[in-house]
Amino acid sequence: MRSKPPKAGRSESEAAQSPTDKPRDLSETPYLKFQLLSYNFSHTICKIKKNVICCFYMCKPLIKYRGGKSREIPHIEKHIPKFSGRYIEPFFGGGALYFYLEPKQAIINDINSKLMKFYDGVKNNYDSLRLELDEVEEIYEHNRKDFEDLKIKNPEIRVEDKNENFYYLIRNMYNNLTEKKYSDALIYFFINKTMYSGMIRYNAKGEFNVPYGRYPHLNTSIVTKAHSELLSQFEIR
Ligand SMILES: C[S@@+](CC[C@H](N)C(=O)[O-])C[C@H]1O[C@@H](n2cnc3c(N)ncnc32)[C@H](O)[C@@H]1O
Repeated sequence: MRSKPPKAGRSESEAAQSPTDKPRDLSETPYLKFQLLSYNFSHTICKIKKNVICCFYMCKPLIKYRGGKSREIPHIEKHIPKFSGRYIEPFFGGGALYFYLEPKQAIINDINSKLMKFYDGVKNNYDSLRLELDEVEEIYEHNRKDFEDLKIKNPEIRVEDKNENFYYLIRNMYNNLTEKKYSDALIYFFINKTMYSGMIRYNAKGEFNVPYGRYPHLNTSIVTKAHSELLSQFEIR
């Protein structure tokens, strides 16, 4: 845990109590010098630890997920017992811990069937999913460029963003309201990355109704063959 830096001077209230005292730079005293040094040292160690953890995180979680534990890994890590055998995670979600530990054998489960279909697609149909990811990323980036060009020419007015229509088209596929042009895995990934603020909301008819998030880019490169190979070692229940 990082401790707060020691105060290097007097507080305003201390100064007010003895107005005749000439202020001294207390950071020059040996004790405070030592405290400052140890604070800087522990701060640097924290930074190094964080970077090392990021480096070893070979397969990053693929989706953003409410309640995801990625940021908590440095705190959770020390409580993980040494284990051999099968890793079982019943409430998988974004799988932050799973992707951090990369266990050789695993059983994962989640009640969210669309989420499970996404992992199944990465696991079993990576090559065709990659083609779809490349295609939608290209469309998204192209549409965004058109939008930005239009915006430069018409800074005062609201201009068309074709990605908005693209999002609603795919959201209709997600809700089974229109014929699916893409796999379930692609549709889930696209919605997860482009919906507004990672929000989850359904209307009374049970349709997912979160609006378009207006993100400037869609980065699909985070879905890798390495994820597919890792997931090939797990059972989805
Ligand atoms: C907070 S998320 C887990 C986040 C995950 N630890 C991570 O780091 O991304 C909780 C998950 O539990 C799932 N869940 C809730 N009730 C469940 C149930 N009865 N059976 C299986 N999964 C359930 C939800 O769908 C959700 O994906």
